[in-house]
Amino acid sequence: MTDLPLSSSLEPDRENLPRHIAIIMDGNGRWAQSRGLMRLIGHKAGVNTVQKIVKAAREIGIEVLTLYAFSSENWKRPAKEVSGLMSLLKTYLESEISSMQENSISLRCLGRRENLPEDIRETLNASIAKTAGNRGLILNLALSYGSRDEIVMAARETAKLCLAGKLDPDQLTEEIFADHLYTAGLPDPDLIIRTGGEFRLSNFLLWQASYAEIFVTDIHWPDFTRENFITAIADFQQRQRRFGKTGDQISDDSQSQTI
Ligand code: FPP
Repeated sequence: MTDLPLSSSLEPDRENLPRHIAIIMDGNGRWAQSRGLMRLIGHKAGVNTVQKIVKAAREIGIEVLTLYAFSSENWKRPAKEVSGLMSLLKTYLESEISSMQENSISLRCLGRRENLPEDIRETLNASIAKTAGNRGLILNLALSYGSRDEIVMAARETAKLCLAGKLDPDQLTEEIFADHLYTAGLPDPDLIIRTGGEFRLSNFLLWQASYAEIFVTDIHWPDFTRENFITAIADFQQRQRRFGKTGDQISDDSQSQTI
C-alpha cells in the first residue's frame, strides 16, 4: 500500500499501526440536541466527520476501517430519523464514489443489505463493484448490522455444510467459522473506537472484537477530528497486547524477534 502525504502537522507513529480500526460513531443526536438542533442535523454533521476520518485512515496507511453506520436495532428509531439517515447514506455514496476511486478505497458492506431500500441497495452494490479492485484502504460500512445476527447466520451456514456432508462437525474450527462472517478474509479489528462516552459494544463485531483494544472518548462523533483519531492510535500503540500470555512472555517474544 502506498502512503499518502499527511495533510496535518500531527503525525502518527508509523510503527505498530493497527491494521484494522472499527468505530462506533455515537453522539450525533446529543451533539445536535445540545445545540437546539434536530437530531438529523447531528447525523449530517456526522457525515462530514466520516469523510475526514476516511481520508485520515487512508493517509495514515490503515488497511481496514469499519464504521458502524446503522445497526439492525436502529430500524426501531422514529421513521423520520430512519428515512433521513437512509437519504444521507445515499447522498454520501453518490458523492464519495469519485473520491474512493481517486484514493484507491475499496468499499464493502457488513450487514443485511437486503433490508435497505432498493435505491440505496443498488447504489451501494454499484459502488462496491466499482471499487472492488482498489487496494489502498478497505472501508467497511456496517449497515443494518447486528453481530448476534451475523453469528447466527454463520452458525446456520456451517450447519448447512455439515448436513450436506461437506464439513465434519468435529473439524469445525474458529477459522472456518470466521470464514462465514461478513468479515471473512479480513484481519480482526485491533482497535475499536467509541465516541459519545458510553462503555459498551452495542452488538458490534462481538466475535471479531475478542482481542481488540477499546478506546472510548466523550467527544461526540460530529466533533471527532483527525487529531483525535491519531490520539486514539497513539493510545493503542502504548498498550501491551498479551493475547492471554503474561507480560514477561510478551517481552521475551519481542526480544527474540529482534535478535
Ligand atoms: C449514533 O448516534 C449514530 C448513528 C445511529 C448513525 C451514524 C450515522 C452517521 C455518522 C451518518 C451516516 C453515515 C454514513 C457512513 C454516511 P446517536 O444518534 O445514537 O447519538 P446519541 O446517542 O447522541 O443519540
